[in-house]
Amino acid sequence: MMTYAEITGWGKCVPPAIMTNDDLATFLDTSDEWIRTRTGIEERRVSAVGTSTMARVAAENALAAADVDATEVDLIIVASCTADEIIPNMASKVQQDIGAKNAAAFDLNAACSGFLYAMHYATGAIKAGMHQKVLIIGAERLTRILDWTKRESAVLFGDGAGAMLLESSENEVGLLASKVSCDADARDVLSLDFGLGFDRYDFDGVMPFNFEGQEIFKRAVKGMSAAIEDVFKQTGKTVDDIDALIPHQANKRLIDFLGKMCKVPEGKTMVNIQKYGNTSSATLPIAFCEALETGMVKPGDTIMSAVFGGGLTCGAGLIRWGERVTPLGDNQKTLPEDGPSALDLILPLYKGSKAAWENKGRG
Ligand SMILES: CC(C)(COP(=O)(O)OP(=O)(O)OC[C@H]1O[C@@H](n2cnc3c(N)ncnc32)[C@H](O)[C@@H]1OP(=O)(O)O)[C@@H](O)C(=O)NCCC(=O)NCCS
Repeated sequence: MMTYAEITGWGKCVPPAIMTNDDLATFLDTSDEWIRTRTGIEERRVSAVGTSTMARVAAENALAAADVDATEVDLIIVASCTADEIIPNMASKVQQDIGAKNAAAFDLNAACSGFLYAMHYATGAIKAGMHQKVLIIGAERLTRILDWTKRESAVLFGDGAGAMLLESSENEVGLLASKVSCDADARDVLSLDFGLGFDRYDFDGVMPFNFEGQEIFKRAVKGMSAAIEDVFKQTGKTVDDIDALIPHQANKRLIDFLGKMCKVPEGKTMVNIQKYGNTSSATLPIAFCEALETGMVKPGDTIMSAVFGGGLTCGAGLIRWGERVTPLGDNQKTLPEDGPSALDLILPLYKGSKAAWENKGRG
C-alpha cells in the first residue's frame, strides 16, 4: 500500500492594515496606473506584528480546518526569509505558541519558492514514513526589509502568512509530483546582504537590497516552464488534465503567461495579487486558502502550481485535492483590527532609509 501526504488543513493570516497604490504615491515617485498595469497589484498588507505571530495564526487556522490537536503534529517547517530572529528558528516559536510539543521544528529559506519547497520535502518525509503529520507554513514580513526609497522593488511586496497540515494517508492525493531547482548563476539579481559577511558595526542604515526586475522576470519564465514540463513528464499528464492553476503571485503578466502555457480553463487560474502583492513564501498557501474559500477548487481537482524566488529558486508541483474542500473547524481567526495604519507603519521606515542614503551620499 502506497503512502501519500494528504492536505487536511489550510489557513491564512493577512494583516488588517492595507496600503493602496495611491498611499505609496504619497511618498514615492510612482502611480496607481504604473503599478496596476505593470504588475496587477492594487494594494498590499502591512503587518504591525512579527512574522511568527502571523505564522501562529495561520497554523492555528490550518489545525482547526483539519480538526487536529497541535500535540499530534510531529514536524513543523516554516518557510521564510524574514524571520523575527536569526537564532532560534521561527519554527520553534510556532511550536511553543501553538503547543506542538511533540514536533521537530526547522526553518527553510528558499525565498518566494519556500512553501513549495516545504511541501516537496514534507511530502517526501511522509511518503518515506519519517513523519505522519507535518505542519508547513509560509510567513513573511517583507515590509520590514524593503528599501522604501526604491520604487522599482518597494511597490511589489506585502506581508502575510499561510499554512497547511499534511497527513499520512492511503488516498492518492496531495503533492503527487514536484520539481525544485535553483539557478544560482543569477543569485545576485535578487539579494539582501544582511548575513555574516555584513559588518554590522559599520551599518550605515542603507538596506543593501538588490533587485533586477527584468532579469528576474526572464529567468522566472524559463525556470517555471521547465519545472512544469518536468512535472508533466514525471506523471505522464498533459495540460488537458489540469483543472486549476495556483501559481506564485509576483506579477500578473507572469501568471497570465503560465495560464496560457497550461491551457487552464477560464476562471480556473488563482489570482489574488491585486489584494496582497507578492508575499513571498506566504503567497502560495494564501492563494490555496482563497481558492478553497471561493469554490475554485473542487473535490478531486488536479492543480498545477509553480513558483520562483531569490536564489533564483524555482519549482512546480502537481497536486490532487482530496474529497474535502471545507474546513472541519473555524479557520478564519485573524489579527486584531485596531492597530496602526499602513502609512503609520511605513513612513518611519521610508524616512530612515532616505536619511541613510543622504548621509551616505555626503560621507
Ligand atoms: C519589476 C517589474 C514589474 C518592472 O516592470 P518592467 O516592465 O520590467 O519595467 P522596467 O524595469 O523596464 O521599468 C520601466 C520604467 O518604469 C520605471 N519604474 C520602475 N518602477 C517604477 C514604479 N514603481 N513606478 C513608476 N515607474 C517605475 C523605471 O524607472 C523605468 O523608467 P525608464 O524607462 O525611464 O528607465 C517587472 O520586471 C517584474 O515583475 N519582474 C519580476 C520581478 C519579481 O516579480 N520579483 C519577485 C521575485 S519573487
